[in-house]
Amino acid sequence: MKDNFGREITYLRVSVTQRCNLNCVYCGKTDCAKKETELSPATIRQLVRAFVACGIKKVRITGGEPLVRNDLCEIIAGIRSIGGVETCALTTNGVYLAQAAGALKAAGLDSVNISLDSTDGSTYRHLTGADMLKKVLAGLDEAERVGLRPIKVNAVLMKGVNSDGAGALIDLARRLRIDVRFIELMPFSAQGEDAALRVTGDEILTQFPFLRPLDPADGVAQYYAGEGFAGRVGLIRPITRKFCAGCNRIRLLSDGSVKPCLGYDTAYPLLPFLGDDERLREEIRQIILKKPAGHSFENQTAGHGLNRTGG
Ligand code: 5AD
Repeated sequence: MKDNFGREITYLRVSVTQRCNLNCVYCGKTDCAKKETELSPATIRQLVRAFVACGIKKVRITGGEPLVRNDLCEIIAGIRSIGGVETCALTTNGVYLAQAAGALKAAGLDSVNISLDSTDGSTYRHLTGADMLKKVLAGLDEAERVGLRPIKVNAVLMKGVNSDGAGALIDLARRLRIDVRFIELMPFSAQGEDAALRVTGDEILTQFPFLRPLDPADGVAQYYAGEGFAGRVGLIRPITRKFCAGCNRIRLLSDGSVKPCLGYDTAYPLLPFLGDDERLREEIRQIILKKPAGHSFENQTAGHGLNRTGG
């Protein structure tokens, strides 16, 4: 269905947990809701089915870190069994991916986005609080091996923190048939230091002039490649090239509430309407109609860390 600004809402992000096994500096992680409060696979399926009846075609599972849930395959299989779901994707930090990729694929997962901000072991440890780079790289290999496609790597560059490693991340796209996407730092740390740390899309293009634009953007990223690249480099620019006018997404949070825009804390509960499918659908339609025209990261910081929302 269309929202109040004529945008066709077809993409649902489902946060299945607030818990995470990493502690990334930019996440703005506060305390997480406990495991016991998370929705069951059956409840998630019921809610997603109602969204699909309202026009959702693509589902992405996010967290927290979704792979901290040991019933993730059941969640995926449940979503996959809903007629009308065209693709089911996962965003993960990749730490548990090597051991899970085969089962995820078998459960019906199509593709995976891996958050990886540095290919240098000590920088990775500094950024995430954990010495897990090797595991993530093994997860990337395994995802490729079992045929989870496309594989996208998401990186957030910060000046003086990991920006030196941009070239090494771009090298991944040179060598492998994957998309390496740089996301401009969004203000979630609430410390107001984001602007000084942020590396913009333009700065990346200036630093790596061999990157040439490819076809017009599909989705939120503009894609580039250099001579002989196996993969692509993507720029996602929520700050310097706001893409709200084309936003097609809505978010189901791990407590069963719905967040129409990443830029605002507002979320509307759905659990009171479980069991009454018609009412549930009506509620979802009303929430979609409340989706704001755009974020306002330029004026404020979003109060909740991405661990609550899943990017
Ligand atoms: N700014 C930009 N991107 C972020 N992510 C997490 N926090 C931020 C932030 N403050 C990204 C992660 C992950 C995706 C879900 O969101 O790198 O890939």
